Amino acid sequence: METNLKSLRALIDDDALASICNIIAFLYDISDNLNWLGIYLFKNNKLYLGPFQGKPACTPLSLDKGVCAKSFNDQIILNVKDVHTFPGHIACDSASKSELVIPLTRGDQRYGVLDIDSPILNRFSKEDEFFFAKAAEEIANIIAKQSI
Ligand code: SME
Repeated sequence: METNLKSLRALIDDDALASICNIIAFLYDISDNLNWLGIYLFKNNKLYLGPFQGKPACTPLSLDKGVCAKSFNDQIILNVKDVHTFPGHIACDSASKSELVIPLTRGDQRYGVLDIDSPILNRFSKEDEFFFAKAAEEIANIIAKQSI
């Protein structure tokens, strides 16, 4: 995990959007069994699609429905083992079976969420939660320095 975080940090340069695009591509590339990985950004009381890998996705997401909205509203990591059991889950890609969502937050600034989808059930471990939370922290730090 430390090696991956080191490689991730090496992708950060002076442009926030370019850095985040590369981080998203890197995270998708090093992970098995994913069909989507990207960020949603909080604007005008909604979550708008940001840099991602995978199929074109739903945007914007309202804050009253879905896994991303719940993670953002409650500021909690959501590790959903079977998305079909999550009330109000928004299926952008019918292949998605499990999902991990992590708030992008620095201090009291809430920027959005990191959203990761898998085509297999129960894909995400505690270790994944920890690793992707670290990645989300890096992304939030980049946005805190230079808005995108
Ligand atoms: N499943 C999410 C919507 C975003 S897509 O997975 C990319 C949700 O329920 O909020």
